[in-house]
Amino acid sequence: MTGNVNVLIPEEKVTQRIKELAEQISKDYAGKQLHLICILKGSVVFSCDLAKRITVPVIFDFMSVSSYGSETVSSGRVRILKDLDESIQGKDVLIVEDIIDSGRTLAYLKDLLSSRAPASLNICTLLDKPDRRETEVDVKYVGFEIPDKFVVGYGLDYNQLYRNLPYVGVVE
Ligand code: IMP
Ligand code: MG
Repeated sequence: MTGNVNVLIPEEKVTQRIKELAEQISKDYAGKQLHLICILKGSVVFSCDLAKRITVPVIFDFMSVSSYGSETVSSGRVRILKDLDESIQGKDVLIVEDIIDSGRTLAYLKDLLSSRAPASLNICTLLDKPDRRETEVDVKYVGFEIPDKFVVGYGLDYNQLYRNLPYVGVVE
């Protein structure tokens, strides 16, 4: 199914905000090497644009996770479809996500990855829907807070479509 998408955050605004986030991250990690973890597939577009503007050395790794079916969603468990290729022990790790909704995915990931003894572990998300939060998660870098609407574009999908849109929008 495809439908019209109404622009919520135009491309220029996304680009400008990513530039600001990258500047802040480059300052905060000055003199360090950043281990950037891209959560597939949603954060691919954001991770690439962010990484291109970060001025400290960056290592990329990828993880793919999926929430359990709706019947077990309340357990807050997340299934790992693809784990990291490299050890993060002693590394300065930044998890890059597309969006925080209930907060369950990131709360789980943060617990899991902090058990692997990184030197530091922070989260950067392009979008945040604070009204939907069910689990408290400490997120250091947030691109935009958005209202409780289902959004697509800039990596985010609806039935795997719309990830390639250069802006964030709402499907009609
Ligand atoms: P959480 O565990 O509820 O925070 O779920 C976050 C995940 O749900 C994100 O990584 C997205 O894959 C998906 N998600 C949540 N809200 C949206 C949305 O508005 N559009 C597309 N995907 C979403
Ligand atoms: Mg996702």
